[in-house]
Amino acid sequence: MINKSIFILMVMFLVLPSWAYSAEMGTCKYDDFKKPKNCGMCHRQIYKEWKETLMSKSYTHAWDQVEYFKLALPHAKKLEKVSGVKAGCIACHSPLAFLSGDVPPKPADQDTRANEGVSCEVCHNITGTSEKVPFNFSFNIKPGKVKYGPRKDAVSPYHKTAYSEFHKTAEMCATCHDEQSPYGAWVKATYREWKEGPYAKEGKVCQDCHMPKSPGKSAGGGKERKDIAHHIFHGSHSPAQLAGAVDVSLACTDGAVSPGGVLKCQAKLYNGKVGHYIPSGSSEERMLWLEVWAVDANGKKYPVPVEKKGFKGEEYTIADSSAMTYQAIGEIMEIKGFKGLKRDGNIPDGARIFRHPFFDPKGRMTICQWYTKDNTLVDYRIKPRETKMEDYVWKLPADVPKGKLTIKAALYYSEIPSSVGEFFKLPKSEYRPIPVGSSEMSVNVK
Ligand code: HEC
Ligand code: HEC
Ligand code: HEC
Ligand code: HEC
Ligand code: HEC
Repeated sequence: MINKSIFILMVMFLVLPSWAYSAEMGTCKYDDFKKPKNCGMCHRQIYKEWKETLMSKSYTHAWDQVEYFKLALPHAKKLEKVSGVKAGCIACHSPLAFLSGDVPPKPADQDTRANEGVSCEVCHNITGTSEKVPFNFSFNIKPGKVKYGPRKDAVSPYHKTAYSEFHKTAEMCATCHDEQSPYGAWVKATYREWKEGPYAKEGKVCQDCHMPKSPGKSAGGGKERKDIAHHIFHGSHSPAQLAGAVDVSLACTDGAVSPGGVLKCQAKLYNGKVGHYIPSGSSEERMLWLEVWAVDANGKKYPVPVEKKGFKGEEYTIADSSAMTYQAIGEIMEIKGFKGLKRDGNIPDGARIFRHPFFDPKGRMTICQWYTKDNTLVDYRIKPRETKMEDYVWKLPADVPKGKLTIKAALYYSEIPSSVGEFFKLPKSEYRPIPVGSSEMSVNVK
């Protein structure tokens, strides 16, 4: 017979690892965590780098504030099914507020500690995950003196250190970078995209691309090392990271064409640098698109639309200025007579869009990832090391001038459809087209 208290101890021991420190609302206080500035006193370079990243602005940045306070929070109060996002958004975007039970937090202009976002203390108090394949803020966290990091021999005068294998894995990032909606749709899957792609097989993790290493010291008074991890986390908000992320090449029927004749071209897009799909992350609102046009000898421009391939859901991947959607915005904000916004913003008609459309329970395309019932109709993004080919067949106008005809192909990226950016009066920098790559070719009109 096992004595009752020993039995209880055994049960506690068995279940402890899975629940003891997993992220749960209201289990800590803000005071359990130091401010990033504190850490920056010694870790000056890392602090400076982190300050520039989106993760330091994950609560304060304009679009995050708008989406939470104007859409998700009111929606959570209105619709039981999505009520969990009131706290859920905060668990990833301002983990200290969530852990402290400060939900909803005060808006960013009130300058509370919610503004710290994904801070040093968040990542360096993380000890592991409660899931086998992590998603939805399933990190375990243990505030205190011990900072978990990648070194076995780190010694600090200010805090204890502990070696953490977890910090070198993609699973750590997956705790926040993969997300399932209340309807069970995978609305962020950067980790899962990476996992099934070539980089996971080669052992190249998120940190290898997003936290590049170079010689130096990580702290004043620290050891000189040859491979300090930089905290730059460049993603799609960094035009330099996007430039050249996909190679664009264009080939056309060579030789001569004549007015009224047909010109055939093919564009090849190769994703040779991105470890997951491009676009990834918030794919409900990200678009990558290819514009193709011809310029005749007099400088006149002619748009050249992409040839249809005939796959299911293709209509969502070809720009159409008459397509209106995002009606859920009007419902949530209670705008009478709201007809929706332009699905593709200002992308010129006929351009191919590499995107992953999400649909709400009423079957309309949505940028509200938490209100996504299904996104399995079509996923036309570019996988890691995939090449996509797009065909163009253009009948030259009968009056096109003789001489040089140049065909241009330009690939652009945008974070948010411009129609949504304009509607919410976001800073233009949030939704402008960012150039990714281009290619051109000339033929002779005889
Ligand atoms: C008084 C200076 C000082 C302050 C303040 C400080 N650290 Fe450190 N920290 C160090 C030194 C020194 C090291 C060891 C560096 C080395 O060995 O390369 C270190 C190492 C680390 C490591 C690496 C641990 C490992 O095992 O790899 C992490 C993570 C870390 N600090 C996080 C933090 C965080 C988070 C804060 C703020 C709460 C902070 N530090 C504040 C001096 C400081
Ligand atoms: C998004 C999570 C995240 C945030 C935020 C973050 N770190 Fe880190 N940090 C990591 C990871 C992961 C590593 C290990 C990277 C590797 O070795 O590939 C690391 C490594 C470190 C190291 C050891 C560097 C080395 O190479 O020896 C220090 C010190 C450190 N971080 C301090 C900080 C400080 C200070 C801040 C805030 C200004 C901060 N970190 C913010 C995830 C984070
Ligand atoms: C505690 C949650 C959390 C963890 C852990 C985390 N992230 Fe993030 N990350 C976020 C959030 C939230 C954002 C979005 C910020 C925003 O909306 O402004 C983000 C943004 C980013 C971006 C910027 C993307 C862009 O659009 O420019 C990159 C890159 C990134 N994270 C990489 C990583 C990597 C690599 C790791 C693992 C070492 C990691 N993150 C771990 C929550 C997290
Ligand atoms: C082989 C290098 C590489 C690896 C590995 C990699 N990334 Fe990226 N990542 C990139 C590049 C390049 C971009 C910029 C292009 C883009 O935005 O898709 C990027 C963009 C991102 C973005 C912004 C996505 C968007 O479209 O808004 C996030 C978030 C991100 N990475 C997180 C991660 C996480 C998490 C992992 C690991 C599971 C990871 N990355 C692995 C190279 C890499
Ligand atoms: C599982 C963690 C997680 C949850 C839950 C979550 N987010 Fe995010 N969010 C992220 C990550 C990671 C990114 C960065 C992806 C990228 O760069 O493409 C992000 C990106 C965003 C962005 C885009 C930022 C930009 O500049 O384009 C907005 C806005 C946003 N989230 C708002 C919300 C709202 C509102 C909710 C609640 C309905 C929410 N998030 C729930 C992790 C999460």
